[in-house]
Amino acid sequence: MERTFVMIKPDGVQRRLVGKIIERFEQAGLKIVAMKFMAVPMELAERHYEVHKGKPFYEGLIKYITSGPVVAMVMEGENAIERVRTLVGTTDPQKAAPGTIRGDFCQHIGRNAIHASDGKETAEKEIALWFGDDEIVDYNMDDEKWVYE
Ligand code: RTP
Ligand code: MG
Repeated sequence: MERTFVMIKPDGVQRRLVGKIIERFEQAGLKIVAMKFMAVPMELAERHYEVHKGKPFYEGLIKYITSGPVVAMVMEGENAIERVRTLVGTTDPQKAAPGTIRGDFCQHIGRNAIHASDGKETAEKEIALWFGDDEIVDYNMDDEKWVYE
């Protein structure tokens, strides 16, 4: 089982897409193991998007992500990192496939509604950045034998 960090960005919250977005992950069989609704402190935003510092879109990105509350989550499942990225769709919603979250709900790269970790190392780093150990819940889902062989 793998864990990944997922965040519904401020546009996702403002456009009342929280329920619809979470539903995509639930119906795919992923398990929520942590979740919180929060305003993003500037320092956290800067650390989260550290890798993009210096890029032309960086300032706008920080402004965007701190512009309103977000929903931060940890999802668990087999191959969860790649699985979640597939459900989220390509960074630019104009190129995102229909059926993906960005493909179905978004129009612009600077307002793409959701973030998901892009690899094992990033996932570990982001989960530790956004959540304390005591905020992540270990539990079994009763339908696990019907979701996995
Ligand atoms: P994310 O980190 O948010 O899950 O998105 P991603 O991996 O698909 O894309 P990434 O390259 O990590 O970019 C992070 C976020 O920065 C914004 N962006 N804007 N205007 C631009 O050219 C541009 N490029 C990236 C997007 O909001 C993207 O999700
Ligand atoms: Mg990224």
